[in-house]
Order: sequence, then structure tokens, then C-alpha cells
Amino acid sequence: TFYLAIAAIGGYLFGSIPFGLVLVRLAGLGDIRAIGSGNIGATNVLRTGRKDLAAATLLLDAGKAGIAAAVFGLLLGTTAGLVAGAAAFVGHCFPVWLKFKGGKGVATFVGTMLVVFWPVGLVVIGTWLLMAAIFRISSLAALTAALAAPAAAWFLGRTDVAIMAGVLTVLIYVLHRANIARLLKGEEPRIGGKKDAAA
Ligand code: G3P
Repeated sequence: TFYLAIAAIGGYLFGSIPFGLVLVRLAGLGDIRAIGSGNIGATNVLRTGRKDLAAATLLLDAGKAGIAAAVFGLLLGTTAGLVAGAAAFVGHCFPVWLKFKGGKGVATFVGTMLVVFWPVGLVVIGTWLLMAAIFRISSLAALTAALAAPAAAWFLGRTDVAIMAGVLTVLIYVLHRANIARLLKGEEPRIGGKKDAAA
């Protein structure tokens, strides 16, 4: 339990680094929270028009969760890796540095899945890419991909990963409630589209 607490705290601290916010600010583009949807993730960084910053945000956000899961998993065991990855996800979505108002967890979810059980990570990425190719809506692709993760983990016999992914998927849906409302009204902006997100 002590080791799991260490993994949780360490994972949270890794995850709470808001790379999208930092990169956009360093690039002199202001506060990402005042742009587009106001989200600190790669999708919204893309709305600044800077593909390089969006790609870097995606890689760094996925990477921080993957590194947390890998480091604590190697040092303290499989369960500690799962806990650290989930804690990194929580740190990204509820960072103490931003008054607990962070991102929506999609990149940290992918990074965690790739490390704790890579087949599920690949299923998530594949589902996201397929849905994005068809509909060109980031949130819709993420919501579908998130649902595929617990199902895939369950089918592949990893109950521990399925339970953890299931909990994070519920959180992803809660964090995307404004996106879901826009999707249902047909008002969610498309990737690279002209219409920008409201809030
Ligand atoms: O991963 C976040 C994405 O699903 C939605 O982002 O900025 O459109 O709310 P955004």
C-alpha cells in the first residue's frame, strides 16, 4: 500500500504538467484556455494553427503518462504501474497548479494504455484514427476509442486493465460532457474546420 501511494503521488505529479498550456505560452500565443474550447489538450492547441505545437502536446501528454506507468511499473510492480498511469491521467485532468481545471485525458489515457498493456493501446489508437478519418471530429473519435479500451482488455483476458480502463473511460465521458452536448446538437467542430469550439 505504501508503494502504491508513492506510485499514485509520483504519477499525479508527472501527469499534472500541462504541456499544452506551457508550449502555447512559450510560443508567445497567450493562454490556451482563452482559445477555442479552452481545453489544454492537443486538439485545442491545433486551433492555434500550430501543428507542430499540437503534435508536441500530444506526444508529451501521452509520454508523461507512459513514463509514469513505465517507471513505477518497473520499480514497484504491475499494479504500481497501473496506479501511476491512472494517477497521471488524474493529474492531467485535475492539476493542482491550474486550480484542478485541466484537460480531458485522451492523450494520457493512450500513453498509459500503451505502456500497461500495449495491445489495448494499439486498439485505442486504431479506433481513434479510423473514427477521425471518417468523421473528422476529435472528441467523437476519442469517445469511441475510450469505449474500445475496457472491452479490448476484457476480451484479451486482462481484467485488471479492463477495470482501470473502465474507470478512466467513465471519467473521459464526464470530462467530455460539453463535447457530447455539442455532438448531439450537431455543433461539434471538425478537425481543421473553420468553425471553432464554443466552450
Ligand atoms: O481530446 C480532447 C478532445 O477529445 C476534445 O478536445 O478541445 O475539442 O474539447 P476539444
